[in-house]
Amino acid sequence: MKGRVLIVAGSDSGGGAGIQADIKTVTALGGYAATAITALTAQNTEGVHGIEEVSPTFIRQQIEVVLTDIGADAIKTGMLHSAEVIETVARALADFGPDIPVIVDPVMVAKGGAKLLQDTAAEALKTQMIANAALITPNIPEAEVLTGLAIADLDAMKRAAAALHAMGPGAVLVKGGHLEGDTLYDLLSTPDGVDIFESTRIDTRHTHGTGCTLTSAIATGVAQELSLQGATARARDYVLEAIRTAPGYGAGHGPLNHGHTVRS
Ligand SMILES: Nc1ncnc2c1ncn2[C@@H]1O[C@H](COP(=O)(O)OP(=O)(O)OP(=O)(O)O)[C@@H](O)[C@H]1O
Ligand SMILES: [Mg+2]
Repeated sequence: MKGRVLIVAGSDSGGGAGIQADIKTVTALGGYAATAITALTAQNTEGVHGIEEVSPTFIRQQIEVVLTDIGADAIKTGMLHSAEVIETVARALADFGPDIPVIVDPVMVAKGGAKLLQDTAAEALKTQMIANAALITPNIPEAEVLTGLAIADLDAMKRAAAALHAMGPGAVLVKGGHLEGDTLYDLLSTPDGVDIFESTRIDTRHTHGTGCTLTSAIATGVAQELSLQGATARARDYVLEAIRTAPGYGAGHGPLNHGHTVRS
């Protein structure tokens, strides 16, 4: 086991996304997962049916006790639903893990359409999390909200990545899962330049948690000292195989097979 990842995100009772997807991913890639849970969702493949918030004091306490004892080599953030939670997490990470790379998945809307970030919180997300992140991993709709640009093709993804990079993060991965077409592009912008990752879209409804899974897989790679390019390439391979071998559970957007690296 190598690479400690602290995940700061929401719980998905259905086990396909959020904290549950994150823990499975980090474990399947040989890392160690610890968590600070920001919210509980009553969720299944059909959608988010309820949200129970965790108090900012308790979110901070989880971050403090993990980082001051176990420590972390990378931090991944997911669902941070309000400006207050964003401020709490930003302050706790600065206080207890100022030198640990933070990978921010700027989660806004769940696959079923439920809002996971209040409208008023996007600005706080930009100034307090995105500006200081080592890497951010927006999907297309999130990149559109954050930049105000419309994104309909690879060229627009490049423009959005440049605009996002100018907000301060060390690197930007714009995920192309939401664009149409048989070929699917993810675009990584780092100080070294732009890398375009390409794959063939798998025609399936079992894509619940692809975003959480990809970002956690990248965070694991960063914790294991892979380059951002290497971590992204491995993460995409991991997600593709997890989609390809999805178990087919539920009537909606079904979960992935996070355990495909685990031999029985
Ligand atoms: N049908 C698919 N076939 C192959 N790869 C996919 C498919 N859907 C998504 N991916 C890949 O999964 C990763 C996540 O991308 P996506 O744009 O779906 O993120 P997301 O919208 O944040 O996901 P989520 O809704 O889980 O938050 C990307 O690497 C993307 O290329
Ligand atoms: Mg997402």
